[in-house]
Amino acid sequence: MRELLQKLAGVYGPSGNEEPIRDAIQKEIEDHVDEFYTDVMGNLIAVKKGKGGGKRVLLAAHMDQIGLMVTHIDDKGFLRFAALGGISVANSICRRVIFRNGITGVIGYETEVESWKDITLAKMYIDIGASGKEEAESQIKIGDVAVYHSPFSANNDKYMGGAMDDRAGCALLVETIKSLESTPNDLYFVFTTQEEVGLRGAKTSAYALEPDLGISVDVTITGDTPKAKPMAVSLGEGPAIKIKDASILAHPKVKELMVGTAKKHGIPYQLEILEFGGTDSGAIHLSRGGVPSGVLSIPCRYVHSDSETIDANDLKNGVKLLVKILEGEINF
Ligand code: ZN
Ligand code: CO
Repeated sequence: MRELLQKLAGVYGPSGNEEPIRDAIQKEIEDHVDEFYTDVMGNLIAVKKGKGGGKRVLLAAHMDQIGLMVTHIDDKGFLRFAALGGISVANSICRRVIFRNGITGVIGYETEVESWKDITLAKMYIDIGASGKEEAESQIKIGDVAVYHSPFSANNDKYMGGAMDDRAGCALLVETIKSLESTPNDLYFVFTTQEEVGLRGAKTSAYALEPDLGISVDVTITGDTPKAKPMAVSLGEGPAIKIKDASILAHPKVKELMVGTAKKHGIPYQLEILEFGGTDSGAIHLSRGGVPSGVLSIPCRYVHSDSETIDANDLKNGVKLLVKILEGEINF
């Protein structure tokens, strides 16, 4: 899976600009599904038909990544930007970024600030090395979006790089599609858009597909680094089954289905309570009259930085668990 993850994590695709990553995912899955299409919101929906008598299951992973949208270009050619999703000051200072056309830049800040605490995104800018406004404008337009630019690397079973959130989830779904042998359930794999700006692709696709249940796959933070806030999730101890985040209380039956399947097949798992943030299931479970929903989370350190770090075994075990869940009969 390393190769697949490395490939997907390296493709450009901030919220609202998902075409490149959508094309890349489509190429991976097109020979392995019964049908696929892109909807109005840009979601890529891939269908795998069941043998009959099963449930309609929506599986979601978001394609989009956080980014920096250019709002202003000054006379010297420096670009001001607005956050597209959860861009923080701390994770941005002097980081390299790249635009869709391959232009790279560095995120700088107004160094006259008295203290680090005074730095806000409004005091930061992107330096693309332009000699002035004209040169900058010949390469970048207002509204263009940059993403963190950092190499993918691997050691000690850990994968590090940008956009693990949520290309790790996309890779997990792609691998699940390829691994599934037969299922009674009709499966709708949705690679969603605009999660990072408010779960928007998930919202419309859940409404259109009317699933019997929904499971989204996304990263979650961990409590396993020095003096981290206590949290019962660590890298390498298995995929996490969500109990709660700020967007959802997982449906007890979906949670039980996930835990029960993990136990039955001896797949390691952890239970996750995330005190802030949310993911696609937050929108899916509120669709129409409500959809029983849960989340399979991939533990990840340094979320929303250019060096998000996950464990290869959590990814593998996540695929195993999801395949077992989907191949079985779902009785509720
Ligand atoms: Zn995410
Ligand atoms: Co995110």
